[in-house]
Amino acid sequence: MGGAADGKAVIKANIGGHYREDGRYPAVVVNVTNHCNLTCQHCFIFRDGNPNEAPKSIREEMSPESMLETLRGLRDRHGISTALWMGGEPLLKPKVLAEGIRLFSYNTITTNGTVPLTDFGPDVLYVVSLDGPQDLNDAIRGEGCYHRVIRNLSNIPPGFSTPVQVQCVVTRRNQERLQELVDAVRTTQANWMTFSFYVPRAGDTSEDAWASVDERVPAVREVQRLKDEYPGFVRNSTLSLELMLPPNAKRVTDACPAHDSVLPLYLEGDHFTTPFCCYGNDVDCDRCGAWVVFHLASLLGAERYGAAGETQAAT
Ligand SMILES: C[S@@+](CC[C@H](N)C(=O)[O-])C[C@H]1O[C@@H](n2cnc3c(N)ncnc32)[C@H](O)[C@@H]1O
Ligand code: SF4
Ligand code: SF4
Repeated sequence: MGGAADGKAVIKANIGGHYREDGRYPAVVVNVTNHCNLTCQHCFIFRDGNPNEAPKSIREEMSPESMLETLRGLRDRHGISTALWMGGEPLLKPKVLAEGIRLFSYNTITTNGTVPLTDFGPDVLYVVSLDGPQDLNDAIRGEGCYHRVIRNLSNIPPGFSTPVQVQCVVTRRNQERLQELVDAVRTTQANWMTFSFYVPRAGDTSEDAWASVDERVPAVREVQRLKDEYPGFVRNSTLSLELMLPPNAKRVTDACPAHDSVLPLYLEGDHFTTPFCCYGNDVDCDRCGAWVVFHLASLLGAERYGAAGETQAAT
């Protein structure tokens, strides 16, 4: 664990595994709390084998001062410019967020959207999670969740300056009902949507997991169709979706761009710790559908994955 008594930030973080104390990481995922007001069935954070223990009181977690000092030290040590604020539910710690977003140039707050959103200014992005129309969303995220989130999205006041993106995790369970969600979100004040795809644990045979990326193809095709139908509203890039199809998908996940460039900070007691990747310790890379992975891959370009001849131009 790093630290210093010479005026430098005291860094309470174990940077281990694939990650290095002298590495450069443009982006960081910060789990500001292991507390959450929901218990979603698909959630990778609360899987066994991940650092995710929550003390009885949220106040017993790493103190805000220590967390912010650690983040400042890590920012300076690793050259981090982008922060993805997560948890647990990050809006349970609004004061840490308000201070934390000042440490980084680019900030995204991913939230379950069950509490009214605070305006953090135009330079921050909210990602609000919804995982299907009411019955499917609530089967995954809990009874009543859908209506609370849609109500909050509908009540965003005029002049609210933080852009709001809704993100849906596509799973084997909801892949045929995505249009209904798009239609519902379009009636709210949310600005646009993206689709991420389920990241399974190793050996995952749950109803959300596809057996292979081949089996996932119809789901990717459906998002491509929705993007064509609602250009500008469904914002996955054309190239990122092309890269999700076989044989491209395995080329991307075999050289996962997020694994090298995004430092995941999970909360463990009074310090941060790094799991295998942003999605924790127990993952099946071959079936990973994380938005961040294919988005970064699309920015790196199709040529890198030997897919240039097989894909259309990026948008
Ligand atoms: C772990 S949550 C933390 C932030 C917040 N509590 C929320 O639900 O948005 C971050 C995002 O990961 C998504 N997610 C959870 N489990 C997933 C999985 N197994 N595969 C892909 N995405 C997942 C959630 O739906 C959410 O959009
Ligand atoms: S709200 Fe987010 S952190 Fe909480 S259980 Fe659901 S996906 Fe996981
Ligand atoms: S699970 Fe996904 S994000 Fe994690 S290392 Fe594998 S491919 Fe990358």
